[in-house]
Amino acid sequence: MEKKVLVAFATTHGATQEVAEEVAAVLRDHGYEVEVQPARAVKSLAGCGAVVLGASLYMMHMHKDAARFLSRHKRAFNEGLPFAIFAGGPFDKADAAVWAEVRKRLDGDLANYPWLKPISTLVIGGKFDPTGLRFPWNLLPALKQMSSSDLRDWQAIRAWAGSLAEQMATGPLDLPTTIA
Ligand SMILES: Cc1cc2nc3c(=O)[nH]c(=O)nc-3n(C[C@H](O)[C@H](O)[C@H](O)COP(=O)(O)O)c2cc1C
Repeated sequence: MEKKVLVAFATTHGATQEVAEEVAAVLRDHGYEVEVQPARAVKSLAGCGAVVLGASLYMMHMHKDAARFLSRHKRAFNEGLPFAIFAGGPFDKADAAVWAEVRKRLDGDLANYPWLKPISTLVIGGKFDPTGLRFPWNLLPALKQMSSSDLRDWQAIRAWAGSLAEQMATGPLDLPTTIA
């Protein structure tokens, strides 16, 4: 079976899906066959040559769909299926200390899955829109009073996806591309 790259995403408000689509577009530009799926909908990783997971962060932890995805597919990752993750993230200010703390917490979450050996981990900025908050966050008046913001750095995200494409091409991955 021809192997593809799966870009799975765990989102509540849609920002992580938009990043997943951008990562997928860059990988496709490099010639890979790519499928983008909500993490919770992925039942099997059969036919995947590599996985990129996008996880939004809530209350300093990965979205539950991302955590469940990692547990559900333990066997495939244990067998060495190449894996990369982007997660985020901070949206109110580009403060280095905040980003370092987010990275530390993310690494702490990932340590719960010792079978995972990410080829790359990226912390991204987040997007916040007080008018589009979903339950239960829309019940919190303090959140509704915050300003909207978007700290997703598309240039950095595209550069990261490009570096993944190169690692996949030069690493020990047997990934067919659509480029002859
Ligand atoms: C209630 C709430 C809690 C959040 N907690 C965190 C957090 O602990 N760490 C973090 O980096 N980002 C946090 N964020 C920011 C989100 O991760 C960010 O908005 C992200 O882009 C949302 O992704 P999504 O739209 O894919 O769900 C929080 C956002 C909300 C609304």
